[in-house]
Amino acid sequence: MDVRKKFEALAGKEDTVVLGIESSCDETAAAVYAGGRILSNVISSQIEIHRRFGGVVPEIASRNHTLALPAVADEALKEAGMSLKDVDAIGVTYGAGLIGALLVGVSSAKALAYAANKPLIKVNHIEAHICANYIEHKELSPPFLALVASGGHTSIVEVEGYNRYKLVGSTTDDAIGEAFDKVARLIGLGYPGGPNVDRLARLGSPVIDFCKKKKPHEFGKLSYSGLKTAVVNYVHNARQKGETLPIEDICASFTAAAIEPLVDTVVEAARRSGAKTVVIAGGVASNSALREEMRKAGEKNGFKVLMPSPVYCTDNAAMVAVRAFFSAREGVNLAGLDLGPESNLRI
Ligand code: KG4
Ligand code: ZN
Repeated sequence: MDVRKKFEALAGKEDTVVLGIESSCDETAAAVYAGGRILSNVISSQIEIHRRFGGVVPEIASRNHTLALPAVADEALKEAGMSLKDVDAIGVTYGAGLIGALLVGVSSAKALAYAANKPLIKVNHIEAHICANYIEHKELSPPFLALVASGGHTSIVEVEGYNRYKLVGSTTDDAIGEAFDKVARLIGLGYPGGPNVDRLARLGSPVIDFCKKKKPHEFGKLSYSGLKTAVVNYVHNARQKGETLPIEDICASFTAAAIEPLVDTVVEAARRSGAKTVVIAGGVASNSALREEMRKAGEKNGFKVLMPSPVYCTDNAAMVAVRAFFSAREGVNLAGLDLGPESNLRI
Protein backbone atom coordinates (compact mmCIF):
# COMPACT_ATOMS: atom_id res chain seq x y z
CA MET A 1 0.00 0.00 0.00
CA ASP A 2 1.36 3.46 -0.71
CA VAL A 3 1.89 5.85 2.19
CA ARG A 4 -0.98 8.16 1.26
CA LYS A 5 -3.44 5.26 1.49
CA LYS A 6 -1.87 4.15 4.76
CA PHE A 7 -2.23 7.72 6.07
CA GLU A 8 -5.85 8.00 4.97
CA ALA A 9 -6.60 4.73 6.78
CA LEU A 10 -5.57 6.41 10.07
CA ALA A 11 -8.38 9.02 9.91
CA GLY A 12 -10.71 8.74 12.89
CA LYS A 13 -8.57 6.08 14.59
CA GLU A 14 -7.84 6.42 18.32
CA ASP A 15 -5.12 3.76 18.60
CA THR A 16 -2.66 5.01 15.97
CA VAL A 17 0.96 4.32 16.98
CA VAL A 18 3.16 7.37 16.40
CA LEU A 19 6.93 7.69 16.66
CA GLY A 20 7.79 11.35 17.39
CA ILE A 21 11.18 12.90 16.65
CA GLU A 22 12.42 16.25 17.98
CA SER A 23 15.74 18.05 17.30
CA SER A 24 14.91 21.76 17.00
CA CYS A 25 17.39 23.03 19.58
CA ASP A 26 19.66 21.20 22.02
CA GLU A 27 17.60 18.13 22.96
CA THR A 28 17.67 15.05 20.76
CA ALA A 29 14.42 13.24 21.51
CA ALA A 30 12.19 10.39 20.36
CA ALA A 31 8.97 9.05 21.85
CA VAL A 32 6.18 6.60 21.11
CA TYR A 33 2.51 7.52 21.65
CA ALA A 34 -0.31 5.02 21.23
CA GLY A 35 -3.86 4.62 22.45
CA GLY A 36 -3.78 7.88 24.40
CA ARG A 37 -0.60 6.95 26.29
CA ILE A 38 3.08 7.80 26.10
CA LEU A 39 4.87 4.45 25.85
CA SER A 40 8.37 5.94 25.83
CA ASN A 41 9.93 9.38 26.07
CA VAL A 42 13.69 9.41 25.47
CA ILE A 43 15.60 12.70 25.70
CA SER A 44 19.32 13.09 25.16
CA SER A 45 20.21 16.56 26.40
CA GLN A 46 23.22 18.48 25.09
CA ILE A 47 23.21 20.90 28.02
CA GLU A 48 26.61 19.70 29.29
CA ILE A 49 28.16 20.14 25.84
CA HIS A 50 26.91 23.73 25.43
CA ARG A 51 27.36 24.82 29.06
CA ARG A 52 31.00 25.85 28.61
CA PHE A 53 29.97 28.23 25.79
CA GLY A 54 27.20 29.83 27.88
CA GLY A 55 24.54 28.99 25.29
CA VAL A 56 23.64 26.70 22.39
CA VAL A 57 26.24 26.67 19.57
CA PRO A 58 24.14 25.77 16.48
CA GLU A 59 26.82 23.85 14.56
CA ILE A 60 27.74 21.77 17.61
CA ALA A 61 24.04 21.08 18.24
CA SER A 62 23.58 19.75 14.69
CA ARG A 63 26.61 17.47 14.92
CA ASN A 64 25.48 16.05 18.24
CA HIS A 65 21.96 15.43 16.95
CA THR A 66 23.52 13.41 14.13
CA LEU A 67 25.49 11.36 16.66
CA ALA A 68 22.62 10.84 19.11
CA LEU A 69 19.50 10.42 17.00
CA PRO A 70 19.83 6.81 15.78
CA ALA A 71 20.36 5.50 19.32
CA VAL A 72 17.64 7.75 20.78
CA ALA A 73 15.07 6.54 18.23
CA ASP A 74 16.08 2.89 18.79
CA GLU A 75 15.79 3.36 22.54
CA ALA A 76 12.31 4.92 22.24
CA LEU A 77 11.08 1.97 20.17
CA LYS A 78 12.74 -0.55 22.49
CA GLU A 79 11.22 1.01 25.63
CA ALA A 80 7.80 0.91 23.96
CA GLY A 81 8.38 -2.78 23.19
CA MET A 82 8.13 -2.15 19.46
CA SER A 83 10.08 -2.13 16.25
CA LEU A 84 9.67 0.31 13.38
CA LYS A 85 7.23 -1.99 11.60
CA ASP A 86 4.74 -1.64 14.51
CA VAL A 87 4.59 2.14 14.06
CA ASP A 88 1.69 3.60 12.00
CA ALA A 89 3.24 7.04 11.36
CA ILE A 90 6.32 9.12 12.08
CA GLY A 91 5.92 12.71 13.30
CA VAL A 92 8.83 15.14 13.13
CA THR A 93 9.39 18.77 14.17
CA TYR A 94 10.23 20.70 10.99
CA GLY A 95 10.14 24.22 12.54
CA ALA A 96 10.63 26.55 14.22
CA GLY A 97 14.16 26.16 15.51
CA LEU A 98 17.83 26.10 14.53
CA ILE A 99 18.00 25.24 10.84
CA GLY A 100 20.87 22.74 11.05
CA ALA A 101 19.43 21.07 14.13
CA LEU A 102 15.99 20.72 12.49
CA LEU A 103 17.60 19.35 9.34
CA VAL A 104 19.01 16.37 11.27
CA GLY A 105 15.60 15.38 12.70
CA VAL A 106 13.79 15.93 9.41
CA SER A 107 16.38 13.94 7.39
CA SER A 108 16.37 11.08 9.91
CA ALA A 109 12.57 10.94 10.00
CA LYS A 110 12.42 10.94 6.20
CA ALA A 111 14.95 8.11 6.05
CA LEU A 112 12.96 6.03 8.58
CA ALA A 113 9.66 6.76 6.83
CA TYR A 114 11.11 5.82 3.44
CA ALA A 115 12.83 2.68 4.69
CA ALA A 116 9.74 1.40 6.50
CA ASN A 117 7.19 2.79 4.02
CA LYS A 118 5.35 4.76 6.75
CA PRO A 119 3.50 8.09 6.51
CA LEU A 120 5.56 11.10 7.59
CA ILE A 121 3.73 13.88 9.47
CA LYS A 122 5.15 17.39 9.74
CA VAL A 123 4.90 18.99 13.18
CA ASN A 124 5.04 22.66 14.17
CA HIS A 125 7.13 22.90 17.37
CA ILE A 126 4.93 25.58 18.99
CA GLU A 127 1.77 23.54 18.42
CA ALA A 128 3.59 20.50 19.81
CA HIS A 129 4.37 22.39 23.04
CA ILE A 130 0.66 23.15 23.41
CA CYS A 131 -0.22 19.48 22.77
CA ALA A 132 1.97 18.44 25.71
CA ASN A 133 -1.08 19.37 27.79
CA TYR A 134 -3.17 16.54 26.31
CA ILE A 135 -0.78 13.94 27.75
CA GLU A 136 -1.79 14.33 31.39
CA HIS A 137 -5.11 16.17 31.07
CA LYS A 138 -7.39 13.68 29.37
CA GLU A 139 -10.37 16.00 29.89
CA LEU A 140 -8.79 18.77 27.79
CA SER A 141 -10.41 19.49 24.44
CA PRO A 142 -10.57 22.58 22.20
CA PRO A 143 -11.49 25.37 22.30
CA PHE A 144 -9.03 26.75 24.84
CA LEU A 145 -6.37 29.42 25.14
CA ALA A 146 -2.65 28.56 25.29
CA LEU A 147 0.43 30.43 26.43
CA VAL A 148 3.68 29.09 24.97
CA ALA A 149 6.65 30.49 26.90
CA SER A 150 10.01 29.05 25.89
CA GLY A 151 13.55 29.91 24.84
CA GLY A 152 12.41 30.72 21.33
CA HIS A 153 8.77 31.76 21.70
CA THR A 154 6.37 33.82 23.75
CA SER A 155 3.04 33.22 22.07
CA ILE A 156 -0.59 33.38 23.06
CA VAL A 157 -2.66 31.09 20.90
CA GLU A 158 -6.37 30.38 20.55
CA VAL A 159 -6.71 26.64 20.02
CA GLU A 160 -9.89 26.39 17.99
CA GLY A 161 -9.58 22.70 17.12
CA TYR A 162 -7.05 19.86 17.31
CA ASN A 163 -5.60 21.17 14.06
CA ARG A 164 -6.64 24.84 14.22
CA TYR A 165 -4.39 27.34 15.98
CA LYS A 166 -4.69 31.14 15.89
CA LEU A 167 -1.92 33.42 17.16
CA VAL A 168 -3.34 36.32 19.18
CA GLY A 169 -0.24 37.66 20.90
CA SER A 170 3.53 37.35 20.88
CA THR A 171 6.75 39.09 21.79
CA THR A 172 7.99 41.83 19.49
CA ASP A 173 11.62 41.17 20.41
CA ASP A 174 13.26 38.60 22.75
CA ALA A 175 11.44 35.47 23.91
CA ILE A 176 10.88 35.22 27.66
CA GLY A 177 13.21 32.19 28.07
CA GLU A 178 15.92 34.02 26.17
CA ALA A 179 15.57 36.91 28.66
CA PHE A 180 15.89 34.46 31.58
CA ASP A 181 19.03 32.98 30.00
CA LYS A 182 20.59 36.38 29.28
CA VAL A 183 19.96 37.70 32.80
CA ALA A 184 21.37 34.49 34.27
CA ARG A 185 24.52 34.86 32.19
CA LEU A 186 24.90 38.52 33.20
CA ILE A 187 24.89 37.69 36.89
CA GLY A 188 27.17 34.69 36.51
CA LEU A 189 24.68 31.81 36.69
CA GLY A 190 25.28 28.88 34.35
CA TYR A 191 23.44 27.83 31.21
CA PRO A 192 20.53 27.19 30.91
CA GLY A 193 19.74 30.15 33.09
CA GLY A 194 15.98 29.74 33.54
CA PRO A 195 16.05 26.96 36.16
CA ASN A 196 18.86 28.72 38.10
CA VAL A 197 17.02 32.05 38.16
CA ASP A 198 13.87 30.19 39.26
CA ARG A 199 15.68 28.50 42.17
CA LEU A 200 17.37 31.70 43.41
CA ALA A 201 14.26 33.87 42.93
CA ARG A 202 12.51 31.76 45.57
CA LEU A 203 15.17 32.87 48.08
CA GLY A 204 14.81 36.58 47.29
CA SER A 205 12.19 39.36 47.21
CA PRO A 206 10.99 41.44 44.26
CA VAL A 207 12.28 44.68 45.80
CA ILE A 208 14.07 46.10 42.74
CA ASP A 209 11.81 47.93 40.31
CA PHE A 210 13.09 47.09 36.84
CA CYS A 211 10.01 48.46 35.13
CA LYS A 212 9.83 52.09 36.26
CA LYS A 213 9.54 53.42 32.72
CA LYS A 214 7.26 50.67 31.53
CA LYS A 215 4.94 51.93 28.81
CA PRO A 216 1.40 50.60 28.78
CA HIS A 217 1.66 47.89 26.13
CA GLU A 218 -0.69 47.34 23.24
CA PHE A 219 -2.75 44.16 23.63
CA GLY A 220 -0.91 41.08 22.42
CA LYS A 221 2.44 42.83 21.98
CA LEU A 222 4.90 41.68 24.60
CA SER A 223 8.48 42.87 24.90
CA TYR A 224 11.47 41.60 26.87
CA SER A 225 14.42 43.58 25.56
CA GLY A 226 13.63 46.67 27.69
CA LEU A 227 13.47 44.57 30.85
CA LYS A 228 16.75 42.87 29.99
CA THR A 229 18.39 46.30 29.44
CA ALA A 230 17.03 47.51 32.80
CA VAL A 231 18.69 44.55 34.53
CA VAL A 232 21.95 45.13 32.58
CA ASN A 233 22.00 48.81 33.64
CA TYR A 234 21.26 47.95 37.27
CA VAL A 235 24.04 45.35 37.38
CA HIS A 236 26.62 47.61 35.66
CA ASN A 237 25.79 50.45 38.04
CA ALA A 238 26.16 48.26 41.10
CA ARG A 239 29.45 46.81 39.81
CA GLN A 240 30.85 50.31 39.09
CA LYS A 241 30.06 51.31 42.67
CA GLY A 242 31.76 48.14 43.92
CA GLU A 243 28.54 46.91 45.52
CA THR A 244 27.84 43.22 46.07
CA LEU A 245 25.03 42.11 43.78
CA PRO A 246 21.87 41.00 45.61
CA ILE A 247 21.59 37.95 43.31
CA GLU A 248 18.46 36.45 44.89
CA ASP A 249 16.61 39.80 44.83
CA ILE A 250 17.66 40.43 41.22
CA CYS A 251 16.27 37.00 40.26
CA ALA A 252 13.02 37.58 42.18
CA SER A 253 12.56 41.10 40.79
CA PHE A 254 13.36 40.11 37.21
CA THR A 255 11.02 37.11 37.43
CA ALA A 256 8.17 39.24 38.77
CA ALA A 257 8.71 41.87 36.05
CA ALA A 258 8.86 39.21 33.32
CA ILE A 259 5.79 37.32 34.45
CA GLU A 260 3.37 40.09 35.40
CA PRO A 261 2.74 41.51 31.89
CA LEU A 262 2.58 37.99 30.51
CA VAL A 263 -0.11 36.87 32.96
CA ASP A 264 -2.01 40.16 32.44
CA THR A 265 -1.98 39.62 28.67
CA VAL A 266 -3.19 36.04 29.03
CA VAL A 267 -6.03 37.20 31.31
CA GLU A 268 -7.03 39.84 28.77
CA ALA A 269 -6.85 37.32 25.91
CA ALA A 270 -9.03 34.90 27.91
CA ARG A 271 -11.51 37.69 28.54
CA ARG A 272 -11.64 38.65 24.85
CA SER A 273 -12.03 35.08 23.61
CA GLY A 274 -14.28 33.96 26.45
CA ALA A 275 -11.94 31.01 27.13
CA LYS A 276 -12.96 28.78 30.02
CA THR A 277 -9.66 26.90 30.00
CA VAL A 278 -6.11 28.24 29.70
CA VAL A 279 -3.06 26.00 29.30
CA ILE A 280 0.58 26.94 29.60
CA ALA A 281 3.43 25.24 27.76
CA GLY A 282 7.13 25.49 26.84
CA GLY A 283 10.28 25.45 28.97
CA VAL A 284 9.34 28.57 30.96
CA ALA A 285 6.03 26.90 31.87
CA SER A 286 8.09 24.93 34.38
CA ASN A 287 8.91 28.20 36.18
CA SER A 288 7.47 28.01 39.69
CA ALA A 289 6.38 31.67 39.81
CA LEU A 290 4.63 31.52 36.43
CA ARG A 291 2.80 28.33 37.45
CA GLU A 292 1.70 29.94 40.72
CA GLU A 293 0.65 33.27 39.18
CA MET A 294 -1.31 31.54 36.42
CA ARG A 295 -3.14 29.39 38.99
CA LYS A 296 -4.05 32.54 40.96
CA ALA A 297 -5.15 34.38 37.79
CA GLY A 298 -7.41 31.44 36.90
CA GLU A 299 -9.03 31.44 40.33
CA LYS A 300 -9.52 35.21 40.28
CA ASN A 301 -10.86 35.42 36.74
CA GLY A 302 -12.89 32.22 36.60
CA PHE A 303 -10.99 30.09 34.10
CA LYS A 304 -9.42 26.69 34.58
CA VAL A 305 -5.61 26.56 34.30
CA LEU A 306 -3.81 23.43 33.14
CA MET A 307 -0.09 22.82 32.78
CA PRO A 308 2.14 19.87 31.89
CA SER A 309 4.58 18.28 34.35
CA PRO A 310 7.99 19.95 33.93
CA VAL A 311 9.36 17.02 31.86
CA TYR A 312 6.72 17.77 29.20
CA CYS A 313 7.34 21.56 29.36
CA THR A 314 10.91 21.60 28.07
CA ASP A 315 11.65 20.13 24.64
CA ASN A 316 10.64 16.49 24.23
CA ALA A 317 9.32 14.20 21.50
CA ALA A 318 6.23 13.00 23.38
CA MET A 319 4.55 16.31 22.55
CA VAL A 320 5.61 15.90 18.91
CA ALA A 321 4.07 12.42 18.73
CA VAL A 322 0.82 13.71 20.28
CA ARG A 323 0.64 16.63 17.83
CA ALA A 324 1.21 14.20 14.95
CA PHE A 325 -1.48 11.86 16.31
CA PHE A 326 -4.13 14.60 15.99
CA SER A 327 -2.99 15.30 12.41
CA ALA A 328 -3.36 11.61 11.54
CA ARG A 329 -6.79 11.46 13.17
CA GLU A 330 -8.05 14.30 10.98
CA GLY A 331 -5.99 13.39 7.90
CA VAL A 332 -3.88 16.55 7.70
CA ASN A 333 -0.17 17.48 7.64
CA LEU A 334 1.05 14.47 5.65
CA ALA A 335 4.55 15.35 4.41
CA GLY A 336 6.43 14.14 1.37
CA LEU A 337 10.08 13.17 1.17
CA ASP A 338 10.74 16.73 -0.02
CA LEU A 339 9.97 18.07 3.49
CA GLY A 340 12.61 20.56 4.59
CA PRO A 341 13.25 22.42 7.86
CA GLU A 342 11.66 25.87 8.32
CA SER A 343 13.55 27.76 10.94
CA ASN A 344 11.05 30.65 11.19
CA LEU A 345 7.86 28.59 10.99
CA ARG A 346 4.92 30.37 12.65
CA ILE A 347 1.48 29.38 13.81
O1 KG4 B 1 10.81 24.79 25.42
P1 KG4 B 1 12.27 24.81 25.61
O2 KG4 B 1 12.94 23.57 26.14
O3 KG4 B 1 13.00 25.14 24.26
C1 KG4 B 1 12.53 26.03 23.30
O4 KG4 B 1 11.62 25.65 22.51
O5 KG4 B 1 13.02 27.19 23.34
O6 KG4 B 1 12.60 26.05 26.53
C2 KG4 B 1 13.89 26.31 27.00
C3 KG4 B 1 13.85 27.61 27.78
C4 KG4 B 1 15.23 28.10 28.20
O7 KG4 B 1 15.31 29.48 27.90
C5 KG4 B 1 15.25 27.85 29.69
O8 KG4 B 1 16.09 28.74 30.40
C6 KG4 B 1 13.79 28.04 30.04
O9 KG4 B 1 13.09 27.43 28.98
N1 KG4 B 1 13.43 27.42 31.32
C7 KG4 B 1 13.01 28.12 32.40
C8 KG4 B 1 12.81 27.17 33.44
N2 KG4 B 1 13.09 25.92 32.93
C9 KG4 B 1 13.46 26.10 31.63
N3 KG4 B 1 12.82 29.43 32.58
C10 KG4 B 1 12.39 29.85 33.78
N4 KG4 B 1 12.20 29.00 34.83
C11 KG4 B 1 12.39 27.67 34.70
N5 KG4 B 1 12.17 26.85 35.73
ZN1 ZN C 1 10.59 24.15 22.60
